[in-house]
Amino acid sequence: MRISTMAQQATRTLRIGMVPADGIGREVLPAAQRVMTAAPGIPPLEFVHLDAGFEYFQQHGTSLPQATIETLKGSCDGAMFGSVSSPSHKVEGYTSPIVRLRKELNLYANIRPVTGPVLPGSIYTKPVDMVTIRENTECLYVKQESLEDGPDGKVARAVRLITEKASTRIGRKALEIARARAALRNETGSTTPTKVTICHKSNVLSVTDGLFRTSVRSVYDADKPENGGEGRYARVGLDEQLVDSMVYRMFREPEVFDVIVAPNLYGDIISDGAAALAGSLGLVSSVNASDDFFMGEPVHGSAPDIAGQDKANPIASIRSAALMLEYMGFSEPALAIYKAVDEVLMDGKTLTPDLPGGTATTSQVVDAVLNAL
Ligand code: NAI
Ligand code: MG
Repeated sequence: MRISTMAQQATRTLRIGMVPADGIGREVLPAAQRVMTAAPGIPPLEFVHLDAGFEYFQQHGTSLPQATIETLKGSCDGAMFGSVSSPSHKVEGYTSPIVRLRKELNLYANIRPVTGPVLPGSIYTKPVDMVTIRENTECLYVKQESLEDGPDGKVARAVRLITEKASTRIGRKALEIARARAALRNETGSTTPTKVTICHKSNVLSVTDGLFRTSVRSVYDADKPENGGEGRYARVGLDEQLVDSMVYRMFREPEVFDVIVAPNLYGDIISDGAAALAGSLGLVSSVNASDDFFMGEPVHGSAPDIAGQDKANPIASIRSAALMLEYMGFSEPALAIYKAVDEVLMDGKTLTPDLPGGTATTSQVVDAVLNAL
């Protein structure tokens, strides 16, 4: 379903596929569902529960049943994914359902904003407002690994796939997101400059990261009027940063980053790092995007250390739901949810224990967000 058509048919019931998977995914997805349902301006919603996960694999021999893929592809307008407990050792026949879903649904971009009020106890004291656009389909996550016996012991190898097509596509996505940010800043009179920073390590990996870097740059350069382009990105700057020093700068001076575009693995790592700036992984949202389908997903994992204790922070999932709605074209309920969440955070009375001073349960935070709505 195309986004514009969807927003026009706002009174039609939207079908949202819910894939809680494992661990705290089962606690935070119902939380997001409660908040979505109550948001002002939301069309009627129908939630479809879908199976996936490591526990499902242990019971049924697959981590992602075909029925889940087909329902998402065939009859859902949007989706939410919780979190999966992927083991750190190889388990024969197991493959991560989220990595596969991103490929099956062609969700080639993972958009991860880190923004919001500065919380007490946050390691950074100025407001952070950055978004990581992570390539979602290739890099080392193609998972072509091999292990063999060599003369000096075992030898493991992994393929790192970077293509011009996927790098160009993610570069364009990042630039389009930057363009929308620049337009919004212009409208609201903000003087904050908008730019895209390419994250890479092409001083060492000059072939793979080199291709990523030049592909993104080509989209930007081709758009310039002097090169015959439309000038769509005239308000957007472009620079680059090596991934290691990016981590350093992100913690020293996060205000220098705005939109970051990164290959899959670096994007995964730096966005968890950026989450620390926000105060907790339990606050940071993402949406997996193709050009016309969106799946919200908290950045955190299944948190087995706190699962089943009603203390998982539901805000990452609640914000991910809002992000999904925003990208689907429903900005009114999305903005209302962001605002309600910010109010609860700034109020500081109802926080889960991952945040300084927090003692509230998952459900108490949801109640507070519903009240603020
Ligand atoms: P994690 O994100 O699950 O947990 C890291 C730390 O953050 C833990 O101390 C946890 O308690 C805390 N945390 C995370 N989310 C929280 C929340 N909402 N509220 C409060 N505290 C929260 O990462 P970890 O421990 O490295 O991985 C655990 C499992 O999750 C692994 O099996 C891993 O494969 C999986 N994982 C799944 C992801 C996904 O489904 N997309 C992403 C990352 C990891
Ligand atoms: Mg991760």
